[in-house]
Amino acid sequence: MNKRLFSAFLSACCLASVSAVMPDAEIDSRVSDLLGRMTLDEKIGQLNQLSGYGYAPDMVGRIRSGAVGSLLNETDPEVVNQLQREAVENSRLGIPLIFARDVIHGFKTIFPIPLGQAASWNPDIVREGARIAADEASSVGIRWTFSPMVDISRDARWGRIAESFGEDPVLSAKLGVAMVEGYQGDDLASPNAMAACAKHFAGYGASESGKDYNTTWIPETLLRDVYLRPFKELVKAGSATFMCSFNDINGVPSSGNRVLLEDILRGEWGYDGMMVSDWGSIEQMIPHGYSADLRQAASQAVNAGVDMDMESHAYTGHLRHLVESGEVSEARVDSLVRNVLTLKYRLGLFENPYVDMASSRRFYAPSSLDAARRAVEESAILLKNTGTLPLNNSKVKKIAVIGPMADAQHDQAGTWVFDLEKERSVTPLTALQQMYGKENVIYAPGLEHTRDLDTKGFANAVKAARKADVVLFFAGEEAVLSGEAHCRADLSLPGAQSRLLAELKNVGKPVVMIVQAGRQLAIMPESEMADAVVYCFHGGTMTGPALANLLSGEANFSGRCPVSFPRMSGQEPLYYNHKNTGRPASGITLINDIETEAGQTSTGCTSYFLDAGDGAFYPFGYGLSYTTFEYGEPVLSATSIAPDGSLKVSCTVTNTGNREGAEVAQLYIRDHVASLVRPVRELRDFAKITLKPGESRTLEFTITPADLEFHVNGAQTVVEPGEFSVWIAPNAAEGTPAKFTVVKPNDLAAK
Ligand code: GLC
Repeated sequence: MNKRLFSAFLSACCLASVSAVMPDAEIDSRVSDLLGRMTLDEKIGQLNQLSGYGYAPDMVGRIRSGAVGSLLNETDPEVVNQLQREAVENSRLGIPLIFARDVIHGFKTIFPIPLGQAASWNPDIVREGARIAADEASSVGIRWTFSPMVDISRDARWGRIAESFGEDPVLSAKLGVAMVEGYQGDDLASPNAMAACAKHFAGYGASESGKDYNTTWIPETLLRDVYLRPFKELVKAGSATFMCSFNDINGVPSSGNRVLLEDILRGEWGYDGMMVSDWGSIEQMIPHGYSADLRQAASQAVNAGVDMDMESHAYTGHLRHLVESGEVSEARVDSLVRNVLTLKYRLGLFENPYVDMASSRRFYAPSSLDAARRAVEESAILLKNTGTLPLNNSKVKKIAVIGPMADAQHDQAGTWVFDLEKERSVTPLTALQQMYGKENVIYAPGLEHTRDLDTKGFANAVKAARKADVVLFFAGEEAVLSGEAHCRADLSLPGAQSRLLAELKNVGKPVVMIVQAGRQLAIMPESEMADAVVYCFHGGTMTGPALANLLSGEANFSGRCPVSFPRMSGQEPLYYNHKNTGRPASGITLINDIETEAGQTSTGCTSYFLDAGDGAFYPFGYGLSYTTFEYGEPVLSATSIAPDGSLKVSCTVTNTGNREGAEVAQLYIRDHVASLVRPVRELRDFAKITLKPGESRTLEFTITPADLEFHVNGAQTVVEPGEFSVWIAPNAAEGTPAKFTVVKPNDLAAK
């Protein structure tokens, strides 16, 4: 039997032996046995994660001595196996390494950024993308990804909103769970499964003023009602790991926050997975002003429950002395090591530590590219359409393709794509040329990149517009303008894009603006200029074919806003589930409508901006289609329930247009009067349904106490008697509410 065949045979045997999930009791027993044989240094080594590239002698030495538990960023399967062999065959106890990577929205086949996937409102699409990412990444030895990020993000200035599922905890939770399911599959020990990582725990999205790494002030009731909600669902979904966040919450950095990492996560929620720090976040407690030095930071992190130290070198530098001095017990160290070893057993690494080279580098399968295209088709949002779309083939012969994002193979992939091969990206220009013929597509970028202020390319762009029947203006942000440490105080289109659009508009042809960005931008002026507006949060590899299908009408739009779009940057933070205040906006007088020498109270005294008015320009949940939908009145199974009761609410949705389309029906509630004021609306569920022309479907949702409760004191929640509204609506700004009452139990009994 030749070597290759034997290797395949061996792998098949391994797979067969590994695919049987090892019972927890068996894992516990093996971990206890191993722990009993480990030296203190070997235990500390398991808590150490390093970034490693290549088969470097010093790294090999560390691995052989048992000083490394995990490596991140090595993605050459041959090198992964070489390094793994050092751990398994050349260290005293042969404990395998876990290889990790930030696989955030695809490994090689790049899907839309998570904010884009959120715009699909489709857990199946998210799960499918994560499964594909896991298969591609595990084929080079990556068995742990630092994803999904479920930080609730209410501020578009924050660059990391790109990695989030947006501003709502229920949408984020459902999609985060789907991503965990996709990565981990049915059997975490399967060689093509990856451990998920719920991050960044917690409250990172509340970074003050949308500036990354900034402090957060989050009252515990808000923390639990909004920011912790998705993480709690990811514990239930079985996320194998968590990552603590860089930020402090009310003065306590998460890497040293025992209440958060132990009392809530493990004590209240029963989490039994592994907690990794963020990159250097233990050491960063020194500049935070929470630790005097790395030794104290190490002690605080161990006691808070940070199992693995990513690149602070705090544990390898100080844990031995902390144990020897009695400041930290070896039993405490054992409890952290247990979590690390348990993860390695759950991943099947002891039985199957190596990449099967016979099936490595599984990238770009046609089915994966098809899924990536469908993900963009379901994520792109039609924000405005005065009839220009879909492109009418009988009228549209020549198409002008203009703008810095029309042919941006690198930038259309978005942030966090370390393994991108940009030449695999299919751009809108390429796809439109393939669809309509190169001779019918006139391309003039107009600007070299999105920040470009040089207008030398405008003349050619205007010339192209003059020759065309329709102008497709591809605007937006380069990938580098969002993501970690990439925050923007001004959310308008960068560079001279707006000026270019104005010049194109003056030509007099219909103009469609297609925005590709890593966040919601303040595009009110441009939206008013364009005849149609499409929004595509950086879509990844197959952005081009998907947008071509949508613009031509081959496919229909079904994306809905996962965030609230501002009229102006200064409105941020902006989110739909806001409080009503004592003076909700009314009688808005905008700045240009104010009389000179107007009296102090002439513009009213309610909550709005003189220049921006109030509310979102495009609201949460909003999106258009090539068809139309109508919602019937909501029907309740009861108009009063006890605080522990449930009720059903149904509504008939009809496709009133002339083509098939998908609609996202959204269930919102409002608690009108409570001991702590409640938001004007809160999403509690949704359903994405496809209807043929004229087809109606009656949707039914169940409202339970979990949908009505809110936190009042620590983990304590209440459902308070009083009036509630419920909507089944197309977005957070529309719909007809129905009313019901939560009554005191004895009132109900009396009825
Ligand atoms: C980064 C990010 C985190 C990422 C980690 C490893 O700084 O905060 O999201 O997973 O380091 O790259």
